[in-house]
Amino acid sequence: MQGKEINKSRPVSGVPSFASSLPEHPEKSRMANSDTYLRQPWRTVHGIPMVSAFALNWERVDTFQTRPEDIVVVTYPKSGTTWVSEIVDMVLKGGDPEKCKQEDIVNRVPMMECAAPGKLPAGTEQLEAMPSPRIIKTHIPAHILPKSFWENCCKMIYVGRNAKDVAVSYYHFDLMNKFHPHPGTWAQYLEEFMAGRVAYGSWYDHVKGYWERRKDHPILYLFYEDLKEDLRREVAKVAQFLGQKLSDAALDTITQHTSFEAMRDNPATNYTKIPSDIMDHSVSPFMRKGTTGDWKNHFTVAQNERFDQDYAQKMSGTDLRFRTQL
Ligand code: A3P
Repeated sequence: MQGKEINKSRPVSGVPSFASSLPEHPEKSRMANSDTYLRQPWRTVHGIPMVSAFALNWERVDTFQTRPEDIVVVTYPKSGTTWVSEIVDMVLKGGDPEKCKQEDIVNRVPMMECAAPGKLPAGTEQLEAMPSPRIIKTHIPAHILPKSFWENCCKMIYVGRNAKDVAVSYYHFDLMNKFHPHPGTWAQYLEEFMAGRVAYGSWYDHVKGYWERRKDHPILYLFYEDLKEDLRREVAKVAQFLGQKLSDAALDTITQHTSFEAMRDNPATNYTKIPSDIMDHSVSPFMRKGTTGDWKNHFTVAQNERFDQDYAQKMSGTDLRFRTQL
């Protein structure tokens, strides 16, 4: 089997990890640093704008094989993916922070579509080498998610976040993440966001797509704003969805361990180990603000009016509602 072939060349653990894939020699580093990946325009996969490095050899994603016991954390980018990934892993590990600190989040919850040969391990390969139950992270919209996810009825946890805070967070992410094209000014970026000319396409289609699919698929649809409002309540929801009976003390520990401050200061969750030529935290940290309503510090009155008008049109006909403040 192809998966087994790939695993043979892996480090002792058998799991290709971010640390083991980083170039160790300056010459190799220069090669892997090449402009092949950095600040490249989006490519297109199945009609959706995609991170250039990820879009190559997309067949590996389309043909990815799930297992029925896989747990999927699926989101539009910047909606709380890392937050909920850490919660899910903590729940599966019975609320033991030490177990979760042993490995970085990018290796515990691999991003399926992530790839950059010579620079980052392919998420599909990382996942193939992992024992069950795997936690899989993806941002792929529902209509182009590999069919194996639906066929195997994998449990999915979707996290939605209001569009205005997502746009602001995504803008800052594009400034610091050089795998994305430079976002230009905030005003320019906002137009791109509204038009869906950003990685993974339209926020509006994404949130609506999974909202519809939850009617006939096991999807727990969470909201970032609800997590901000009452984290413990949402952690308990996740545990129940996953069929994990946890003590009150374990729920308390998970809640503390996944607060914004704890995750910002935890090297296993804050992305500071990603090479700085890819993510430059001095431009904007990955764990940036972690609040609801930061959009008010960025949107002008005119931008807000235009955004609201466009939003009403794009979200007409759905009963899906988001809160833009708490
Ligand atoms: P901001 O840029 O608004 O601060 P993702 O993981 O999907 O890329 O989302 C990143 C966003 O979630 C960032 O938002 C980040 O700060 C926020 N975030 C991550 N962990 C968080 C936590 N424990 N509590 C609140 N927000 C968190």
